[in-house]
Amino acid sequence: MRKPIIAGNWKMNKTPEEAAQLVKDLIPLVKDAKCDVVVCTPAVNFAAVKPVIEGTNIKLGAQNVHFKASGAYTGELSADMLKASGVEYVIIGHSERRQYFGETDKTVNLRTVAAVKAGLKAIVCVGEMKDEREAGYTDMIVTYQTQMALHTLTAEELENVVVAYEPVWAIGTGLTATDEQANETIGVIRKAIAAKFGEEAAAKIRIQYGGSMKGSNVKGLMAQPEIDGGLIGGASLKAEDFAQVVNF
Ligand code: 13P
Repeated sequence: MRKPIIAGNWKMNKTPEEAAQLVKDLIPLVKDAKCDVVVCTPAVNFAAVKPVIEGTNIKLGAQNVHFKASGAYTGELSADMLKASGVEYVIIGHSERRQYFGETDKTVNLRTVAAVKAGLKAIVCVGEMKDEREAGYTDMIVTYQTQMALHTLTAEELENVVVAYEPVWAIGTGLTATDEQANETIGVIRKAIAAKFGEEAAAKIRIQYGGSMKGSNVKGLMAQPEIDGGLIGGASLKAEDFAQVVNF
């Protein structure tokens, strides 16, 4: 049985003060959650959030990590820096990084390797654009992205990876994949993992859905057999909204 995982991706939102308040409000609302609960906050908020969630069931996440250990990489953060700040999870290859910041399948792979080697859990994002779905390329795209991201990992390292299926056309648009569409494509991703790592590893790995997931649609999505959780953008920015998703 795969334990569900609901993660909030706050993207570029919240100051340290606002971040601390959000998790303070969240703690009592999600304390009985049956799933893993993660908040992926901007790095400037780690120091404000970490002491507030200490000893609770909320885990700290980051939104990106560099693949080098240190050096002349202005603006980047290493996996060891994240670890030392109390981070447990890190989002890698979000479509916003692929679209706006030149992230490639190659760098997604390098970042994933660096993260798991440092003892972080990677949330690796894959997903097709609208025109790719319309042209019938969804399965090919998510298979390719998944295998490229993960192909250099060992089966053991894969145990520290969560995949997030985020159809780009569903992110921040209010459009959600139907329960069946999300389930079917996540099934394709699981097959892509089975082809590289075997059936056992594929049966174990958790695959989230992301894209306008919220209180009103979480139940249907989470009832699908392939869907093991959610990566939540907009609905993670208010404690009550996020709690509704977590307590699906
Ligand atoms: P929304 O929930 O705002 O659509 O964002 C999804 C997402 O990109 C999470 O990483």
